Amino acid sequence: MFFKKVTPAVGLDIGSHLIKVVELKKSGKGYSLENFGVKPLLPEAIVEGEIMDRDLVIETIRELWEETGLKTKHVVTSVSGRAVIMKPITMDKMKEEEAREAIRWEAEQHVPFDIDEVYLDLQIIDDQSSDRQMSVLLVAAKRDMINTRVDLIREAGLVPVIIDLDNFAMMNSYEENYGISPETIALIDVGSEVSNLIVIREGHPIFQKEIFVAGKTFTEAIQRNLNQTYETSIALLKGEPVDDVSPDELQPILESVVEDLANSIDRSFSFVRTASADGVDRIVLSGGNARIVGLADYLGQHHGVPVEIANPLKTVDYDIDIFRGEDPEQIAPLLMVGIGLALRKPGK
Ligand SMILES: Nc1ncnc2c1ncn2[C@@H]1O[C@H](COP(=O)(O)OP(=O)(O)OP(=O)(O)O)[C@@H](O)[C@H]1O
Ligand SMILES: [Mg+2]
Repeated sequence: MFFKKVTPAVGLDIGSHLIKVVELKKSGKGYSLENFGVKPLLPEAIVEGEIMDRDLVIETIRELWEETGLKTKHVVTSVSGRAVIMKPITMDKMKEEEAREAIRWEAEQHVPFDIDEVYLDLQIIDDQSSDRQMSVLLVAAKRDMINTRVDLIREAGLVPVIIDLDNFAMMNSYEENYGISPETIALIDVGSEVSNLIVIREGHPIFQKEIFVAGKTFTEAIQRNLNQTYETSIALLKGEPVDDVSPDELQPILESVVEDLANSIDRSFSFVRTASADGVDRIVLSGGNARIVGLADYLGQHHGVPVEIANPLKTVDYDIDIFRGEDPEQIAPLLMVGIGLALRKPGK
C-alpha cells in the first residue's frame, strides 16, 4: 500500500503470537504455494499490534528464513491496530490516480492525526451509483508506526516492498479463492490479540473494525477459571483433551467469551445495515482461532447466517510434502493474511 516496487516478494504476516511467511508463484492461470513457515513468538513480544520486544521479533524472523530456506529477501507485509484509520468518505468523481492526489485535502477533515504525520491511501468503494460523486475508503496510517515496521524488517536482513493492511490482505486472499460475489460477506480473522473484521461486497470493502476479543481472551479466561497454563489453554481451544478438565467445565467459559465476540460483531453488523440498507449474508472465519470448538456454530446461530472456515489454499496448487506431515486444511486458515500478502508480488 505505501511503498511500491516491481519485484517478486514473499508475504510476511507478523502476528502477535505467530509469524507467518508465504511464498507463491504464478502457475498457469492461478498460483502455487512454493514455501511457507510458521513460528511462534513469546506472548509478551507484541501486544495489541505494538512491538514490545524488537530483538525477539527480528531474531524470530531470521530463524524463519533459516528454517524455510527462503532465498527471497523482498517482503510484502502488513499492519493493523490503533495507528491505522479507515473511514468511508464521499468525494468528487475522478480517476483513482487523481483521487490519490486529492485525498490529502479531503483527509484533513476526517483524520484525527496531523496530516503531515500520516501516510494516506484510498480504495474506491463505489463509483457507479452517482454521476458526480464516488465513495472511497480513506486509509491513514501513522508514519512513525510504518517507519518503525520498515526499520525492523530491514534489520532482519529483508527488504520491504509493500506495507499493506491485514484486512486488505484478507480480502485479497478471499477473492482469489472464492471470486467476487454480490453477497455482503463478513470476513473475520480471529487471531491471538485481535479479531479483524472486514465486510465486503462486489470486490469492495464497505466496513472494517478491529475487535479486541480473540485467542488471548479465550486463553486468559481458561487460565483464570480452570487454573491452566497458557499451553494447555491453547490445547483446550483446539478441542484436544487435557487431564483434569471436563468438557462440561470448559463449555460455559468458552461460551461467555464467544458471546462477547458475537456482541461486538453485532455492533459492526448493525452499522453495516444502517449505512448500506443490506445486512450481512455470510460470515467467513480465518486466523489461528477460527477453529475454536463451537465458535462457528455459535456465531451462525447468534447472527442467523451461514458461517464457514476460509480455505485460502482452495484454488492454490501445492505439493503435500511442504506441509511436513501436517494437515493443509488445518494450517490454511492461519495463512489467510500471509497468502493475501504474497498474492501482491508472486514469483514467476
Ligand atoms: N498450529 C498452531 N500453532 C500455534 N498456534 C495455533 C496453531 N493452530 C491454531 N493456533 C492458535 O492460533 C493462535 C494464533 O493465531 P494467528 O496466527 O491467527 O494469530 P496472530 O496473527 O499471531 O495474532 P494477531 O492477528 O491477533 O496479532 C494461537 O494463539 C493459537 O491459539
Ligand atoms: Mg494475525
